[in-house]
Amino acid sequence: MARILITSAIPYINGIKHLGNLIGSQLPADLYARYQRGRGNEVMFLCATDEHGTPAELAAAKAGKPVGEYCAEMHGVQADIANRFGLSFDHFGRSSSDQNKHLTQHFAGKLDDAGLIREVSEKQVYSNADGRFLPDRYIEGTCPNCGYDRARGDQCENCTKQLDPTDLIEPRSAISGSTDLEVRETKHLYLRQSAMKDQLDAWIDSKTDWPILTTSIAKKWLHDGDGLQDRGITRDLDWGVPVKKGDQDWPGMEGKVFYVWFDAPIEYIACAKEWADASGKPDSEWERWWRTDKGADDVRYVQFMGKDNVPFHTLSFPATILGSGEPWKMVDHLKSFNYLNYDGGQFSTSQGRGVFMDQALDILPADFWRWWLLSHAPESSDSEFTWENFQQSVNKDLADVLGNFVSRITKFCRSKFGEAVPEGGAFGEREQELIAELSRRVRTYEGFMEAMEVRKSAQELRAIWVAGNEYLQSAAPWSTFKEDPEQAAAQVRLGLNLIRLYAVLSAPFIPETSAKMLSAMNTLDTSWPDDVAEALNALPAGHEFSVPDVLFAKITDEQREDWQTRFAGTRD
Ligand code: 2FM
Ligand code: ZN
Repeated sequence: MARILITSAIPYINGIKHLGNLIGSQLPADLYARYQRGRGNEVMFLCATDEHGTPAELAAAKAGKPVGEYCAEMHGVQADIANRFGLSFDHFGRSSSDQNKHLTQHFAGKLDDAGLIREVSEKQVYSNADGRFLPDRYIEGTCPNCGYDRARGDQCENCTKQLDPTDLIEPRSAISGSTDLEVRETKHLYLRQSAMKDQLDAWIDSKTDWPILTTSIAKKWLHDGDGLQDRGITRDLDWGVPVKKGDQDWPGMEGKVFYVWFDAPIEYIACAKEWADASGKPDSEWERWWRTDKGADDVRYVQFMGKDNVPFHTLSFPATILGSGEPWKMVDHLKSFNYLNYDGGQFSTSQGRGVFMDQALDILPADFWRWWLLSHAPESSDSEFTWENFQQSVNKDLADVLGNFVSRITKFCRSKFGEAVPEGGAFGEREQELIAELSRRVRTYEGFMEAMEVRKSAQELRAIWVAGNEYLQSAAPWSTFKEDPEQAAAQVRLGLNLIRLYAVLSAPFIPETSAKMLSAMNTLDTSWPDDVAEALNALPAGHEFSVPDVLFAKITDEQREDWQTRFAGTRD
């Protein structure tokens, strides 16, 4: 049994996430986690809310709540929606936890001991109108790299370039919109990433199986221009992890906090401790996932994220953990995604554009969304959500292919043989051909799932469903029944067993429906079809089942038009 550690980029606490966020990390991570569990491997799947920094402070101010209270509330909201989307985290933590505070301060202390931190007296933007410094997202302006006019002080979301507030052209305060800004002196800590450039470069070179999207972004920041820059890891803010060296004060850093991007990835580790602490497990339980000196050397660690997160995960976070000199588990595979666009534009949290997770669940069950999003994952390029495409692919794949198959075979059996698997004769040539095709396809599906090729996995799964439908069409037990009821019974027996097989194979994509299929087949047997022929005998003659309700109601044109209008504007 392999041991697999999976993390999804941790979503900012500032509001409910849109479908573009969901497909960018949490959903594909869940697909992989469910698949690996289905294969019998031991999985630790972690995610959390990213609660520090300017996104949280700005959102709390907008909601008129103290930031701590706002974060606690929004964590509950995000946890509930994640649960309703079937995201099967082993723990959904909080970057504002005590565990993360201590671990972040611990890392800073270790990095300082290793000489990898330097103090810099620097110039920062100060807003006279707001009476405060404006770090990161408190400031907006035009990106010096691509000209995007809503770039934030920490990063341009258009071209992914990491920025400093002073880089922005025509900067303005994100709080008041004021352009009455001046530059003032303040002291900050910098992580000496440049000193670790060769080590990071060699580490990335060793990752020969990483997606091009991942390595090309990392290489760009390592080699473009002046190469990898040192990075400020503290901020003049109230909300965040107080700057300390382990548990000691850091002279000169009083009243400052660590930069959100310093403590956020450390939460991947702290989250495992939160998981252990929450259920009274000893530290050894989480350390066996994270410390290579305590058992994690045989763990495979996979991270999922959108492309804008790649620089932090290939450079800054590895610099933090490598630089500590301690035996922490490093990522083995980093799966990154392009962007999902919405109907001719971008999904946008700040502008409320697109479909948000809670709205999606208000109109349709999670599996409809899971299927569409995963089968259209923005892997090799950005992809686009349109209502037409959504309606078409859901109706075709889920209703016409899978739903129809399940409905036809169960109803036919009930009408001719009753609600139990009929005996019938041995499988004939047509059945053997289907078994051979499915055996090939299941192996291909496993290969794609293992390689985290999300779209290709969905295509292969669909082909597996189609093969069953085509078999049923050509075997036509409803015709066979008239001359040869024995043969028709064998065909139906195969069909009912296919439903169980499909439930097992499809569970990572559509877990709720898969559970309904298993329950209709009256079985708890979720064993993976290592041997397809054997798997198609799992439900023996005489095994009782029931006809399930319609699995996927088709999306009508009226519904599509209604949603199209309803989601055309922006949400407040
Ligand atoms: O882009 C985002 O949504 C960030 N909150 C992701 C952080 S991932 C990690 F570093 F923790
Ligand atoms: Zn840009």
